Amino acid sequence: MGNNGTVWLPESASTVAPEVDWLFYFVYWTSIVITLLVVGGMIYLVWKYRRKSDEDRPEPVKESKLLEISWVVVPTILVLLVFTWGFQGYLKLTVAPSNAYEIQATAFSWGWSFDYPNGASVGNELHVPVDRPVRLNMSSEDVLHSLFIPAFRVKQDVLPDRYTSVWFEATQEGEYHLFCSEYCGTQHAEMIATVHVHSQADFDEWLADAAMDEDVPLPELGERLFGQQGCQQCHSVDGTDGIGPTMQGLFGSERTMQDGEVLEADENYLRQMIINPGERVVEGYQAGVMPPYGRLSEREINALIAYIKEQ
Ligand code: CUA
Repeated sequence: MGNNGTVWLPESASTVAPEVDWLFYFVYWTSIVITLLVVGGMIYLVWKYRRKSDEDRPEPVKESKLLEISWVVVPTILVLLVFTWGFQGYLKLTVAPSNAYEIQATAFSWGWSFDYPNGASVGNELHVPVDRPVRLNMSSEDVLHSLFIPAFRVKQDVLPDRYTSVWFEATQEGEYHLFCSEYCGTQHAEMIATVHVHSQADFDEWLADAAMDEDVPLPELGERLFGQQGCQQCHSVDGTDGIGPTMQGLFGSERTMQDGEVLEADENYLRQMIINPGERVVEGYQAGVMPPYGRLSEREINALIAYIKEQ
């Protein structure tokens, strides 16, 4: 992932990427040429008009119309070129083709979930077909996030209470990074997903499999959700302490709350902690760090509890 880029840009894997890169390199090389001309000219003139003796007196400077016109006209043309190409690219990036395949993307603190037309819902993994326009219809459950796929050269803010969208057409099968690029809290840097670009046949097969959560046993579904919903970013299953408590040996143990009350970690306790984690906080941990997971279905909550029981 991401090894085929240049010093300046990551690998390029979407239809708009070459245009974006071309404009970037136009600005880049123009800047280098202008910098060399200005600094070079400056050094030359300092050397040419240096004081040669104590009697040396400079001659009055005559203005040059040609020089003045050219340093107004040439930069204006350059800036207008960048504007024209930039604006064309912007329009292309903003308006999705009408035949685009649509996926619902939801951002939350701190992860992503993607919902497909057939009911499949996956977290922190975006699967798309190659050579086909894909439109992400995006919203946030809590604060402002931003979806950024460097290899596709797309970035768009994801807001609560308002839909935004982004579209791309991947040109190469493979795996790519998807980042959150808006500072959104303590785990912002961990809010990373993987984009899997499949052939159309592989994508169809994956999509059919992904929609079949109903057939999966609860603990297995729970394990899947534990990863997809981002739980593992704060809660380990091997006993190591993270931002949140480990799940190892949690079920059935006694937990001391911040107000001193001792509760047994049974099914109801776990359910409460998943749906409304802000209400009671275990001693030694910070309140308000874990977002509420009320959007999970009944079956998904049961699955998570079944999985945690086994740890
Ligand atoms: Cu979400 Cu940063």
